[in-house]
Amino acid sequence: MGQINFKPAVLRPPIRVGILGAGGISTAHAQTLKGLADVELVAVADADPLKARRLAERFAIKEVYSSLAEMLGQSLPDVVHILLPPEMHARFAIECMVGGAHVLVEKPLCVSLAECRELESTSAQFHRTVGVNHNVTFDPAFLSVVDAIRDRRLGAIQHVSVGWNIPFGGNTFTAPLHRLKGPGAVVLETGVHPLSMIVRLLGEVKSASVLTSSTGDAHRGNRNANQDTWQMSLVCERGTAQCFIGLDRGFTDTRISVIGEDGSALADLRLGCGAVVENTRRSALFFKFGDAMEMAWSFANSASRGFLDRLRRIPAGCATDDNAPLMRASIGNFYQALLTGTEPTASMAEGLAVVRSCLRVIEAAETAEIATAKSGTKTFEPLEVESWQTPATASS
Ligand SMILES: NC(=O)c1ccc[n+]([C@@H]2O[C@H](COP(=O)([O-])OP(=O)(O)OC[C@H]3O[C@@H](n4cnc5c(N)ncnc54)[C@H](O)[C@@H]3O)[C@@H](O)[C@H]2O)c1
Repeated sequence: MGQINFKPAVLRPPIRVGILGAGGISTAHAQTLKGLADVELVAVADADPLKARRLAERFAIKEVYSSLAEMLGQSLPDVVHILLPPEMHARFAIECMVGGAHVLVEKPLCVSLAECRELESTSAQFHRTVGVNHNVTFDPAFLSVVDAIRDRRLGAIQHVSVGWNIPFGGNTFTAPLHRLKGPGAVVLETGVHPLSMIVRLLGEVKSASVLTSSTGDAHRGNRNANQDTWQMSLVCERGTAQCFIGLDRGFTDTRISVIGEDGSALADLRLGCGAVVENTRRSALFFKFGDAMEMAWSFANSASRGFLDRLRRIPAGCATDDNAPLMRASIGNFYQALLTGTEPTASMAEGLAVVRSCLRVIEAAETAEIATAKSGTKTFEPLEVESWQTPATASS
């Protein structure tokens, strides 16, 4: 991943922040910003004034606007959080940078190669820092894998595998992004989470082979129309990866496994647990018992730490909101970068690499066969279906 070719800005506290978009994710951003020292949440803008007012009342935000232009012109924020639907991210992030603000953009950073190029050139021209909220890459279980790699416990990384099964995501099929990108909207909306972990560990996806299928369970009456499972085999800059995405599953099951030359690491993101398996140093008689106990200890240890963290969060009223620490770590990292004049960990370069990876996966899926799988049975028959590639997706 390339570096931005200018020295990142250093901001003096308090950093004045505006939120653009007062929809579903804005509460988590406002809550996090209110808890950060050196940051002042001064304004919110939304095309729907009621939504903007509601957020302002809940978080005591003084200035309320109905457009970005008004907020930029009157409030003069140092930073704007872009919390709009994905297809609007690039346009408004560029307007912010031209208008004098640095930007933290919700995932995905943007949705086309042309937007990637435009964001990069605007950031360089106006010397603005761009961060992207890849919050899952701040999950403690994922970070424990990163630590094991940094501590050289796994040796050179060869392969990463991510399973991303979630009980939501079906609304992607009715979102405007779906009209623009077809079923590939799933990858840009939800697939960004597993792909951001893969890109962090192995670099950008260089080629992809993809099988999509519809289980028919998620959207009865519209069977076979929506590809709610995606299986990807990926070649990345520094190794190979596999990724499975399942939408509208019965429960969350999100895991990552990393295979290195000297060992492997597993992390269960739902449970917040992880373990490292190193090439054993034990004798043939004891290794199964010893290694299994070490793994069990590692899981028990991380489970206890996670439980204590939850208990500590009770006074703040977000003990069971497991996304809250991720948002705090991700957004906090962005502001730390602005205060110290460094690049955020989830930098523009990383955001662009993830978007390009998503687009490569979508392109691979466009030429692939779509299959249907009826859950609960062993039948799995390929369907004769036309490619869903549209002129809009072909040109992006
Ligand atoms: N990181 C995460 O875990 C996570 C979770 C949920 C959503 N997201 C991302 O956050 C972004 C927003 O998602 P959401 O669920 O909050 O969407 P949302 O539809 O609930 O909210 C979007 C808001 O943007 C406003 N808006 C639309 N056009 C506008 C314009 N031109 N000017 C001003 N306001 C405008 C809408 O009125 C709405 O309030 C998406 O990119 C999504 O992928 C990230």
